[in-house]
Parts: sequence; C-alpha cells; structure tokens
Amino acid sequence: MTLYKNIVVLTGAGLSAESGLHTFRDKDGIWSKYDYREVATPEGYRRNPALVLNFYNERRRQNAHVRPNAAHNALARLGAEYPGHVLIVTQNVDPLHEMAGSKDLIHMHGEIVKALCEACGSRHTIGNADLTLEVACPSCAKQGDMRPDVVWFGEMPYHMERIYDALAGCDLFVSIGTSGTVYPAAGFVLEALRAGAHAVELNLEPSEGVSVFVEAIHGRATEVVPQYVDRLLNFAPPSVSH
Ligand code: OAD
Repeated sequence: MTLYKNIVVLTGAGLSAESGLHTFRDKDGIWSKYDYREVATPEGYRRNPALVLNFYNERRRQNAHVRPNAAHNALARLGAEYPGHVLIVTQNVDPLHEMAGSKDLIHMHGEIVKALCEACGSRHTIGNADLTLEVACPSCAKQGDMRPDVVWFGEMPYHMERIYDALAGCDLFVSIGTSGTVYPAAGFVLEALRAGAHAVELNLEPSEGVSVFVEAIHGRATEVVPQYVDRLLNFAPPSVSH
C-alpha cells in the first residue's frame, strides 16, 4: 500500500451504531420514528421549538451512556500514528471521535453538546444538559433563543471552505458508515477523485454512491475499520476489494 500524504476520512451514523446510537435511514433509524421536517429544519423549529429541543434533549441524554467503539478508537490511532496528515470530517453530532482521542476533526453538522444563541450568535458548551425555552444565553442573557448547535436541513454545513481545501489536496478519501444520501457530504468523493485521490468506502452495505468508489469493503465498522487502519499503518496490500 502507498504511503499517503493527506488522508480525508468522512464518517456518518454507521460509525456510532455499534456504540448504541441509532442511524437515520436503517430500518429502526431515527427518520423511521420522526419526520425530519418537524425536528431537523429551521421551519420545524419556528413552528414548534419545544418539540425540536426535546428531540435533541433525548439524543443528548443518550450521549451520557455511550462510549467510543473500536472503529472510533482505530481512527484516533490512525490520526496519532500515521506518518501523513489525517483529517476526520464527521456528519455525526455525537462526541465519540473526540472521546476516542481524535484531534484533527471537523463536525460539519455541528455538535449536540453545544448550544447556539440565535439572538447573539454565541456558542456555549452544555454537555449533556437539557435545552429548554427557559434557558438564557450566558452571553446576552436573552431567554428562548438557545438552540442546539447542529446543522438542520436547508442550512449550510460548517467549515465547508476548509473541507473543500482538504479534499482538493487529499490523496486518499475514506468514507465510513454513511449512506451517501445527504449533500454536500455525499459529493465529497467526487471532489477527492477530481484531486486524483484513491477513494474507499467502508460501510455495512453498499451506499448510494458505491459505484464511484475505487474500492469498497462491506462489514460492521468495528471490524472493517480497525482492519483497514492496520493496513494503512502497516502499508499492507488490500485484503478485500471490488
Ligand atoms: P444514514 O442513517 O443515512 O446511513 C448510515 C449508514 O451506516 C447506512 O448506509 C448503514 O448501512 C451504515 N451502517 C449501519 N450500521 C453500521 C455498522 N455497524 N457499521 C458500518 N456501517 C453501518 O446516516 P448518515 O449517512 O450519517 O443530518 O446520514 C447523513 C445525515 O443525514 C446525518 O448527518 C443527518 C441525517 O439526516 C442531519 O440531521 C442534517
């Protein structure tokens, strides 16, 4: 295997599934129980802010009980030990990458452990605490404007300039545990291919965009991610590909 200079890893809900957090589009996924238009859009929030705050309160409470799994740990090891640069771009709002020790990390869909004040734009770490309409902003003291610092459908994901710069300069793109249905993340593989990168998918099953990847390895993240990281760290030849 080649020694890559710049690796970009894109992660999705499938990476955290074996830590006990539901994915979105699997059979028992979050969008099988909730209408995303009600709980994950600015319009839904305007219509019923308490419902939206509760949806994220429940998800934040789950965070108190989850731990990083072998796949998060393997990616943290990759970041710490790989001789090239490794950037993780996650669509996940959970804190499992940082709990595993990953340092170079972008939360493109925000972080559930943070709140954003819509009145003054300040951000605050709230950990696993609930957000309610009674919570006042620690910066401007206004009540009722503290929302989860997550990106909703129809909003611009965070740090896009930095992400596109990294994709333009990467020589390996690895997509892990994402269905490849939500843009802009679903288009990152094409940006990486345009830059001449090798593109690999690691997912339980073939994603929407599997055909554009050069290599695909299908299986549970806790199995295939540590194996793939070992391969990168040992510069070993591929074991499974298509
Ligand atoms: P999805 O639920 O769309 O896809 C999860 C993917 O993980 C699926 O392709 C599963 O096959 C795969 N998967 C499930 N269990 C796995 C396991 N144990 N190991 C490996 N793979 C597994 O989740 P995302 O692609 O992350 O955005 O969804 C993208 C965005 O859509 C989310 O960030 C969220 C959502 O709506 C917003 O809320 C804005």
